[in-house]
Amino acid sequence: SSDRFVKIVEVSPRDGLQNEKQVVPTEIKLELIRRLGQTGLRVIEAGAFVSPKWVPQMGDTPSLLRSLPLPPSSSSSASAMSYPVLVPNAKGLDSLQELLRSVPQGQAAPTDEIAIFTAASQSFCKANTNCTIKESLDRLSQVTSRALQSGLKVRGYVSTVAGCPYEGDIDPEKVGEVSKALLDMGCYEVSLGDTIGVGTPTKMEAVLEASMRKSGRGADVFAAHCHDTFSTGLANVLHLVGLGVRTVDSSVGGLGGCPYSPGATGNIDTESVVFALEKEGYRTGADLERLAEIGEWITAQIGRETNASNTGRAIMA
Ligand code: HMG
Ligand code: MG
Repeated sequence: SSDRFVKIVEVSPRDGLQNEKQVVPTEIKLELIRRLGQTGLRVIEAGAFVSPKWVPQMGDTPSLLRSLPLPPSSSSSASAMSYPVLVPNAKGLDSLQELLRSVPQGQAAPTDEIAIFTAASQSFCKANTNCTIKESLDRLSQVTSRALQSGLKVRGYVSTVAGCPYEGDIDPEKVGEVSKALLDMGCYEVSLGDTIGVGTPTKMEAVLEASMRKSGRGADVFAAHCHDTFSTGLANVLHLVGLGVRTVDSSVGGLGGCPYSPGATGNIDTESVVFALEKEGYRTGADLERLAEIGEWITAQIGRETNASNTGRAIMA
């Protein structure tokens, strides 16, 4: 049944690459996105309209969006790809909307969705976006209403849901408050980000429970965004899916890390998520063999010695 379908949001082109020291050429990012599109994955977070001074690696997002493989605008939406992009403020939304206005008639728009982001921890919010949580919610509420008016969908991220690199443990009640604020302003979904990967199943259940209780919404409006710093990412994903979450963010090859959380490793790898969910009787629509090939290819392209995906390495062995 459709209840067993888990939507994967592949975040490698954004979360996976934003932290790489050497700038990854736009051509490589485009090739990554093209290959990912052939695995059956349908949602690929393509980039970020953030300040290039803060995150140089995402500076090519406008040109990348202009070169994405797109179907003609008349083609059926069943097979359509979705390429959400991060937007931190009004300036980022202005740039995206300018780009969308320049798409020639008869050509599909490269994206119909933005992702906004804030945090459950004051210090992380400051480090990541240079403002308090309250300021960030005020800013994002304006961004969201403008985006919704122009027909864009808006997804919300809460970072540091289990712990913060500066403040340590985070109270799930705080996450619940921020989740509620994001849903109230019009986000269709909130992704619960364990930015530094300190969450365990019990903690992540408390985070989900507080978010559902405070917002009055079901598990189906939440996504699991687990980083795998302490190897608990997959356990957390399986637990949250068992509780009714049906969207999982992951990154091929386990690429990634956040520039504002030193020491944090990448997202849980898509290969392991697909392997485990399919074995557990869920459907992801993704081709594991192809994903493993991409994981091996992209880690070599960016000069990472080891592919962080155990599953990928096992399949390619
Ligand atoms: P700020 O310095 O306070 O911004 O940064 P400002 O408004 O004072 O502007 C400063 C300069 O940046 C100006 O340029 C602006 O034009 C420019 P100048 O006049 O000095 O030449 N600027 C911009 N340029 C391009 N695009 C923009 C933009 N905004 C301002 N949108 C700001 C505030 C939010 C912009 C900055 O802090 C920023 O870009 N932060 C983003 C950090 C980031 O990308 N972090 C990683 C993504 S979040 C994440 O990884 C977590 C997640 O994966 C979930 C999880 O795991 O927890 C989602
Ligand atoms: Mg992340």
